[in-house]
Amino acid sequence: MNDKFLIKGLVCQKKLEGTITVGGAKNAVLKIMAGAILFKNTLTIQNMPFVEDVKRMGELLTKLGATVNFSKNEVTINTEKINTQSLDNKIATAMRSSVVLTGPLLARYGKVVFPTPGGCTIGLRPIDLFIKAYEKMGANIEYKDDAYIMTSQKLKGAEIFFDIQTVTGTETIMMAAVLAEGTTILKNCAMEPEIQSLATYLISCGADIQGAGTSTITIQGGGLLESKQPYITISDRIETGSFVILGALLAKKLRIEKCDPSLIESLISLLKESGVNMNIGKDYIEILESKNLKSFNVRTHEYPGIPTDLQPQLVTYLTQSEGEGTVFETIFEGRFKFIDNLKKLGADITVMNSREIIVKGPHLLKSNSELLESYDLRGGFSAVLSGLLAQGESTVHNVYYIDRGYESLETRLCAIGADIKRIQ
Ligand code: EPU
Repeated sequence: MNDKFLIKGLVCQKKLEGTITVGGAKNAVLKIMAGAILFKNTLTIQNMPFVEDVKRMGELLTKLGATVNFSKNEVTINTEKINTQSLDNKIATAMRSSVVLTGPLLARYGKVVFPTPGGCTIGLRPIDLFIKAYEKMGANIEYKDDAYIMTSQKLKGAEIFFDIQTVTGTETIMMAAVLAEGTTILKNCAMEPEIQSLATYLISCGADIQGAGTSTITIQGGGLLESKQPYITISDRIETGSFVILGALLAKKLRIEKCDPSLIESLISLLKESGVNMNIGKDYIEILESKNLKSFNVRTHEYPGIPTDLQPQLVTYLTQSEGEGTVFETIFEGRFKFIDNLKKLGADITVMNSREIIVKGPHLLKSNSELLESYDLRGGFSAVLSGLLAQGESTVHNVYYIDRGYESLETRLCAIGADIKRIQ
């Protein structure tokens, strides 16, 4: 649980070389795992990243009474024997995506009890939009002893406008609507590819959903779904983007395989303009040695804009590029903690406010056995990247956060020439 990474830096030299393979998207798998509750038969999920958050979601389902069997990068889930609708408090308070279970549970069993979900500390992350949607669908909601207790005879279709585009909100309410009575229209929906992937699969199993991937989704409620073929997880666009940035900074030649470049067009466009030399194929990206990288301004945005989940990696990139770049974090108000690591190593970063920073580069990062902190998953990747860039050795703490979303990161990075050891 308290593992550390010991990293020998590459002193900004382009030494990494080889092939790295992208896994299935964590943020797609977590949702379809919760979606298993909508099914009358066993659901099989393939190309699954075996990361900590996925294991925790498996535990949450098991504690509800579901049968969950993991084998390598596949999981089967049968929810016929679910015998409680109360989420395990300890796991749910440590994982934001636990809230996705509330939609399918409430819609199928008319009840769900759950705590305020926790997760990576990147901002407040309220669940008011979920609550408002459930109220519109006719649920009774009480908050007692630090838990929400929601009940409903049968959820009713409703017209719901999300004040803010919310990824898990869109997915959760879309799934609740699959078993609700009548038509639900969701407006100002998030448009992330994981939502479309989820909807496409649910449709293939009998759901009536139109418009997923656009800002308006219409769902016609019906009965339990039947799985006829496995869900094949789409590739992880955030892992892809993380490796692209790593390659741009530190690789002589890096081939990123089993990815979908069309899902990170915004990043590719930004990095090409900055001077990164790359070849793009249908399912691979090749990064060639790139010199004289130029800075840029970044404003995180809902899909298809620059993902907030790539912001820490891009800030790290800007410490190595020529000029000044302003980074504006529009999605989460607390996502700059990781810059303490970069500053410790000598980066020139000015904090304007909780959402805006200015990064000046390039600066040689130096580590005198510095301790770098993983404050959250993506900030953790940035810490690894910082350690790899630096001159000297550094230790990354709280590797658990990194393990939540990157499977065996150190093994994969060592295979392309990095020097990272896990200390237990
Ligand atoms: N929001 C509210 N009220 C709500 C729901 C959301 O105010 O009821 C706000 C949030 O506080 C935030 C904005 O809406 O300011 C967008 O948040 P969203 O709900 O879209 O985030 P999320 O669904 O909780 C998912 C990913 C995150 C990713 C964000 C944004 C999963 C499990 N998590 O979170 O992934 O950063 O969308 O794209 O899908 C990660 O993988 O490292 C990660 C944090």
